Amino acid sequence: MSRESRVPAVPFLTSAASLLCPERSRAFQEGSELSQDQRNSVDLIASVGDLPRHETERLLSKATHRPRPELLLGVPITDTELATFEALATRRRAGEPLQYLEERIPFGPIEVTVDRRGLIPRPETGQRCALAGDAVGEPQVSLDLGTGSGNLALALKHAFPDAVVYATEISPEAAALARENARDANLDVNVLDGDLFGPIPEHLRGNVDLIVSNPPYLSEAEIGGLPEDVRDHEPRIALVAGPTGDEVLAVIASKAPGWLAPGGTIVCEISEFRGAAMEELFAPLGGEVRKDLAGKDRFVIGRA
Ligand SMILES: C[S@@+](CC[C@H](N)C(=O)[O-])C[C@H]1O[C@@H](n2cnc3c(N)ncnc32)[C@H](O)[C@@H]1O
Repeated sequence: MSRESRVPAVPFLTSAASLLCPERSRAFQEGSELSQDQRNSVDLIASVGDLPRHETERLLSKATHRPRPELLLGVPITDTELATFEALATRRRAGEPLQYLEERIPFGPIEVTVDRRGLIPRPETGQRCALAGDAVGEPQVSLDLGTGSGNLALALKHAFPDAVVYATEISPEAAALARENARDANLDVNVLDGDLFGPIPEHLRGNVDLIVSNPPYLSEAEIGGLPEDVRDHEPRIALVAGPTGDEVLAVIASKAPGWLAPGGTIVCEISEFRGAAMEELFAPLGGEVRKDLAGKDRFVIGRA
């Protein structure tokens, strides 16, 4: 995922509605009693002036268990729903990522739970999934190294139901989250605790058709430059690889040739600033750097 997209893209715009109704916005922000008409979802959304409108809608959807389009038609909001919404909005204002508050987020054709145990899946990760799909036919054995919430491993299993999918994860908390997501999605992915290839069964050596990974690739110096909601809420181990940022990718590049089947493919996400270095690291696999939709170096692809 790109450094920018580790930053939730949240332009803190004031909604036009709240500009038109400043007293309502003030009343809401100060926690004053809302009048009966403001208990209507449309008016309540318009009364929140300090969160982007789409965030207000998403948090209200979470609080009311109603889809956003229904809220936009105007439905009554109960006291309990209002209290739940206010609690969520307060946490958002304090910097908690929107997706952690929503808890369940879509990832391509599946849905995953996200919380502080794992990184929030970014849109480019889905792009990587598409790249991986294009790069291989029907993989029989796939690995996802550093699976986090399990999003990518689960999407692969969903796309290739006959494939055996292994996912490894060094953080026991993230591994537990990935297992919960696999269970909830009813997808049979083997989530293994441990370091990169360490927990993969030996008999798979030389037999893996597809390896994907979105490893940590920030340097220790770069963490300070992250926005607060990323730096303070998402797991550091998901972001920082070590002093240079290349440490985890270097291990993956050195070990992948031993695990890939002849013709097998590896697709890893990389730092936009490290394209040339990654081509060099993955040279034994003919490493080619691809750009993301924003035109930045973002993936390295190699073949055994
Ligand atoms: C950038 S996150 C990616 C999470 C998920 N795959 C995604 O794309 O959204 C990197 C993940 O790798 C895990 N990780 C870091 N170092 C690892 C290692 N040496 N072995 C296995 N997992 C590791 C982190 O705990 C984190 O969950």
